[in-house]
Amino acid sequence: KVHTIACIPGDGIGVDITEAAVQVLQKLSQTLGAFEFDFTTFDWSSEKYKERGWYMPEDGLEQLKKFDAIYFGAVGWPDVPDHISLWSLILPIRKALSQYVNVRPTRILRGTESPLMKCSRSDLDWIIIRENSEGEYSGQGGTTHENTPFATATEVSIFTQPAIERIMRFAFETAKSRPRKKLTMVTKSNAQRHGMVLWDKVFYQIKEEYPDVETDKMLVDAMTVRMVLHPQSLDTIVATNLHADILSDLAAALSGSIGIAPSSNLDPTRKNPSMFEPIHGSAPDIAGKGIANPVGAFWSAAEMVRWLGYGEAADGLMECIENVTGAGIKTKDLGGFEGTKRVTDAVCAEIEKT
Ligand code: NAI
Ligand code: MG
Repeated sequence: KVHTIACIPGDGIGVDITEAAVQVLQKLSQTLGAFEFDFTTFDWSSEKYKERGWYMPEDGLEQLKKFDAIYFGAVGWPDVPDHISLWSLILPIRKALSQYVNVRPTRILRGTESPLMKCSRSDLDWIIIRENSEGEYSGQGGTTHENTPFATATEVSIFTQPAIERIMRFAFETAKSRPRKKLTMVTKSNAQRHGMVLWDKVFYQIKEEYPDVETDKMLVDAMTVRMVLHPQSLDTIVATNLHADILSDLAAALSGSIGIAPSSNLDPTRKNPSMFEPIHGSAPDIAGKGIANPVGAFWSAAEMVRWLGYGEAADGLMECIENVTGAGIKTKDLGGFEGTKRVTDAVCAEIEKT
């Protein structure tokens, strides 16, 4: 079966790691022969924005809807304000294509270790479920008295019962599918007394439907401490758009590096294509040096393969990635000495062996 994939490499290391991921996906499909990918690359980036004045053409979202999946690198570059790049590309895609769940798995890969804490590989194995459609990233608000000493801005968070219900159900289903059947819900409902209280309420309602899932509830500040001091006490985690954004960067750092962490922006109804991307950004500080860690991009590619219906192939790809990290072929952020290309070639060689 042929799957059409829209590729948006974007900016900085997004370009390097997308190229690496496409190479690995092509090797995987050639080797297994069970599926094929038909990639279409879109040059939507900050560089093009400076030339043309737009990130996505007017019918960009319509174009994307025709694909089976979207593979995304990263967007953002120092000479364009970040709120413009994010709100011109990645956020509209997530919203328009109803990708209301963002799944962010975290674990310590073979041959690597937590750089920050003492913990074994079995101690840190989490899935963070991020609400991806509303909350703090609703884009609502405004500024008055602009350019005066009294400039006043509001950033309005929006929380709706239907959106909270659907993310909670997804989180409970995820927790239920994992061996430990454990879900931790994160809010800040002591200080934020409207939206966060609604989150708590919906959580306890949906919980009734899942008597076999063990649950607990954390405030986001205390959660950061628990992640560092008691990683083994956590399994599946559900949090708002902003909280999960922050917690997943921390999770990535604890598990090895932000360079390994994947994410899936899912429309669970499958009416729209889902989008797969590493959680890191364009990393201007290392862009163009050939040293970006492609593992987060490969892991995201594996999750795309899984979403398209090939769970075994996805597990196989993860095995190949871990054979490479396990053999010590790693980039600098994981304590290794290799560049993007060497790691990519090594993963391709592992795929060939299967
Ligand atoms: P970043 O994730 O790009 O970089 C943070 C740090 O991690 C840097 O020191 C970088 O060198 C390192 N790093 C990131 N990915 C790495 C990899 N694969 N291998 C090795 N090291 C890696 O975050 P930052 O610096 O806050 O943002 C840079 C730009 O990216 C900004 O314009 C930001 O808005 C954008 N961004 C875009 C995202 C997206 O497209 N989804 C997500 C996060 C940031
Ligand atoms: Mg982030």
